[in-house]
Amino acid sequence: MEAEALGIRPPGDKSITHRALILAALADGTTVIRGALTALDARSMAGALRRLGVAVSPLREGRVVTVEGRGVRGLQRPGVSLHCGNSGTTARFLLGVLAGHPFEARITGDASLRRRPMRRVTVPLSLMGAQFEYQNEDGLPVVVRGARLRPLEYRMPVAAAQVKSALLLAGICGQVPVALEEPARSRDHTERLLRSLGAAIQMDGLKIRLNPPSRLPAFEIEIPGDFSSAAFLIAAGLLKSRGEIFLDHVGLNPTRTGLLRVLGRMGASVEVLDRGYQMGEPVGDLVVRPSSLVGCEVGPQEVPSLIDELPVLAVLASRAQGESVFRGVGELRVKESDRLSLLARNLRALGVEAEAEGDTLTVVGTDRPPRGRVETAGDHRLAMAFAVLAGLPGAQVELSEWESPGISYPRFFADLERVRSFV
Ligand code: S3P
Repeated sequence: MEAEALGIRPPGDKSITHRALILAALADGTTVIRGALTALDARSMAGALRRLGVAVSPLREGRVVTVEGRGVRGLQRPGVSLHCGNSGTTARFLLGVLAGHPFEARITGDASLRRRPMRRVTVPLSLMGAQFEYQNEDGLPVVVRGARLRPLEYRMPVAAAQVKSALLLAGICGQVPVALEEPARSRDHTERLLRSLGAAIQMDGLKIRLNPPSRLPAFEIEIPGDFSSAAFLIAAGLLKSRGEIFLDHVGLNPTRTGLLRVLGRMGASVEVLDRGYQMGEPVGDLVVRPSSLVGCEVGPQEVPSLIDELPVLAVLASRAQGESVFRGVGELRVKESDRLSLLARNLRALGVEAEAEGDTLTVVGTDRPPRGRVETAGDHRLAMAFAVLAGLPGAQVELSEWESPGISYPRFFADLERVRSFV
C-alpha cells in the first residue's frame, strides 16, 4: 500500500517578507506580519529599518512580527552605515526609499553584495533628482543623498524586480508619480501589495504606473511559503524513486512559478492544489511525485519567472534524459555569485557535461552517480541545489560550505533529509 505523503511547509517568502517589512515601515500605525521569513536576509532588512528609527520586533520562527510605521517620509537619519549583509533586495529597496528622504546615508554589504551592480537602481534614481557617491565602481558602498524628487518615466533596460520596486518606493517617499516599462515581466509582489493597500497602481502588460498615496495604512499579512525555497524540495521529491511529497501553503504568484511550467515540459509530476488568495497573492499546496525527466529548452522571456530556480533546474537537467539549453540567463552572473559559471563548473566537477557560453547554459543529463567537490562561493542557492544532488543514491558530493542556506532557508538540511529518507 502507498505510504501517506510527507508534508512540509517551506519558510516564509523572502521577496514578500522584504516588501511587507519596508511598506510597513512607511505605513501609519502598527503592522502585523505572520509567517515572515526569519532567515539572515530578512534580518538584514529588519536591522537596517531599525537603524532608520523603525521599531521592528525580533524575527523569530513561529512568532508574529510587528512594525511601527513612521509614515511615507518619516525615516530618521541613521547614525552609522546601513549594512545589508548578503541581501541585494535590502540594498536596492533602501536606495529607493532613501532617495526620497532629506538626509544622507551610506549603504554597504558583505563581499558578495559589494560586487553586485547598483547603477541599475541609482541611474534612474538620479534622473529623479537623488544624488549618489560611489566608493566602488558599480557597487556598494554607496552614499545616497535624498532630495525633493521629480516624477519618473523610465524604460528599464533589464527585467529586475528589485529595481522596479526601488523606483516605486522612491515614488512613494518622494510623493511623485512613477511610470515604468520592463523588457520582460519580473515578479510583481510590490505592485500587488501596494494595490491591496489601496494605492493607485495600474499594471498593463509590461507597463506600471503609480500615483503615490499620501499615506499607507498599516496592515495585517500572512506570508505564504517561499516557492523558491520549495523548489529545492520539489527537485529532491522528483528525483526520489518512491514516496509523495506534499508542500503546504506555498506562494504561487505566476511571475514566480515558471519552474512549474518548465517541469511540466520535462515530464515531472507536480500537482497544484489552489487555496485562493492572501493580500492579492495566490497560494496553494503542491504534491510532488517521483518522475523520469527529459531535457528542456528555456528562452529569455521565461527567465525572470524562474531566475532563482535556475540553479536547481540545471541540477535537475543533469539528471534528465538528453540535453537542456537555457538561453538568456546572463543575469545569473550578477546574483549572489556568478551562478552561470559556477553551475557549469560544478556540474563538470561532478562528471556532468555542462557549458556556460555568453548567456547560454547547456547541460547534458546522465544517470551516473555524481561524484566530486562543489564550490558554492557562499551562495545559498548553489549550496541548496547541489545538496539535492549530494542526496542521491551512490552520490559522493562534497560542498565547500554548509552555512549559506541560512541566508534564505535555515531549516533546509533538516527538511531535505526528511524528503530524502521518507518512503
Ligand atoms: C527579487 C528579485 C530577483 C531575485 C531576487 C529577489 C526581489 O532579482 O533574483 O532573489 O525580491 O525583488 P531581480 O531584481 O534581478 O529581478
